[in-house]
Amino acid sequence: MKKAFVKSYGCQMNAYDAARMADVLGAEGYAATDRVEEADVVVLNTCHIREKAADKVYSELGRLRVLKAARQQAGHDTRIVVAGCVAQAEGAEILARAPTVDVVVGPQSYHNLPALLASSHTKRVVDTAFPAEDKFDHLPARRTGAVSSFLTVQEGCDKFCAFCVVPYTRGAEVSRSVAAIRAEAEALVRGGTREITLIGQNVNAYHGAGPDGLIATLPALMRELATIPGLLRLRYTTSHPNDMDEDLIRAHAEITALMPYLHLPVQSGSDRVLKAMNRKHDGETYRRLIARVREARPDIALSSDFIVGFPGETDADFDDTMRFVAKIGFASAYTFKYSPRPGTPAAERDDAVPEAVKSERLAALQGLLDAQRFAYNADFVGSVVEVLVEKTGRDSGQVVGKTPHLLTVQIDGPPSLIGTLVRVRIVRTGSNTLFGEIAADAAVAA
Ligand code: SAH
Ligand code: SF4
Ligand code: F3S
Repeated sequence: MKKAFVKSYGCQMNAYDAARMADVLGAEGYAATDRVEEADVVVLNTCHIREKAADKVYSELGRLRVLKAARQQAGHDTRIVVAGCVAQAEGAEILARAPTVDVVVGPQSYHNLPALLASSHTKRVVDTAFPAEDKFDHLPARRTGAVSSFLTVQEGCDKFCAFCVVPYTRGAEVSRSVAAIRAEAEALVRGGTREITLIGQNVNAYHGAGPDGLIATLPALMRELATIPGLLRLRYTTSHPNDMDEDLIRAHAEITALMPYLHLPVQSGSDRVLKAMNRKHDGETYRRLIARVREARPDIALSSDFIVGFPGETDADFDDTMRFVAKIGFASAYTFKYSPRPGTPAAERDDAVPEAVKSERLAALQGLLDAQRFAYNADFVGSVVEVLVEKTGRDSGQVVGKTPHLLTVQIDGPPSLIGTLVRVRIVRTGSNTLFGEIAADAAVAA
């Protein structure tokens, strides 16, 4: 049997696309493998968000060139595919830089993968079109047995933050219809999924065709999905503060299946920097937004993204970010050093922050956010939480799951718990994981 190896970098959207490419190849008779050396097709689903992410692709391609030659000598053909955001951004340039690549395919064209692979035997091919047809209509049914699954409901971004490549690599905001999403969600639940995370580059800008012919918003979509029997939990990511409206805030109080977790990137706590970033919100707007969310759902776990060292960021700007973080309090957060990206307005600026200063600021911000995360996690020790068990743990006799607040918990228990909600008493915290034991009358739902 032919085998396919698919590796994904970057965001959840890319992870979803990678799973769908595996579905496309599966329908063509390729079994999925996690051993690249036995793969007849290798897909690298790439990310362009920061320079380091994009550079990884070329080092990986270097290794694949050697592997492909070795397989060739043993009489096996290997097709090398570059997909994702680097494919979209660089297109044919990739073929020029990496002679080992057979196919370059963008995030909107991967349903064409079988045809592209077939024609690559005569000529190396590039497909980075934004086709008028909807790729989702051409994808085979999903095959997953995962307890927690991603489901793309929205793609693209119209926000054009000054640092970001996403509007260029993923195109304009487009939403799928409620009916298409519901059908995919039902198929996932039939396959064993109990938690679905609705994903989109700007998921809270979702506005898809509703069952009544009207436009449905994200809260309307979630209310609809919450009626699917067997679907225990809903989440969504990633959101932009400006699309966080009253209805969505209310959804956090009203939809029981919607988990108390919000990832809402703010990027900076300095109004001057936010303006230069073209974020179209200031710190005070964000702070007030969070106050309203916390009023609706007092226990919400708040997460965010931060960039340090945006061009022109001064010590005073960075101090504003530190004060902002101290004031708001985050359960978790991702921090990045600014990385200039070709084609974005910020990359044209000549007031770059020196690398050493970026590193210093990153360490200081991470230190503060880590302290907030440890304190947040430690608060759960002694309490009983509902854990959705997802998989077996590293040691036998252990299983691992997630709390409503998206914390990972390791417990002693049999694999038969996978796919169920169990009540767990948290006994201690590690740096990234909580450790718990099953509380009396453990099972709360199946
Ligand atoms: N659509 C999402 C996420 C976009 S990418 C959103 O708007 O929140 C994820 C994160 O990468 C961003 O939130 C930002 O913090 C970071 N990022 C994007 N471009 C970057 C760049 N050029 N340099 C450093 N970090 C960047
Ligand atoms: Fe990038 Fe900004 Fe769009 Fe997020 S909202 S994807 S950071 S342009
Ligand atoms: Fe990277 Fe593209 Fe996602 S640039 S973060 S894979 S949208």
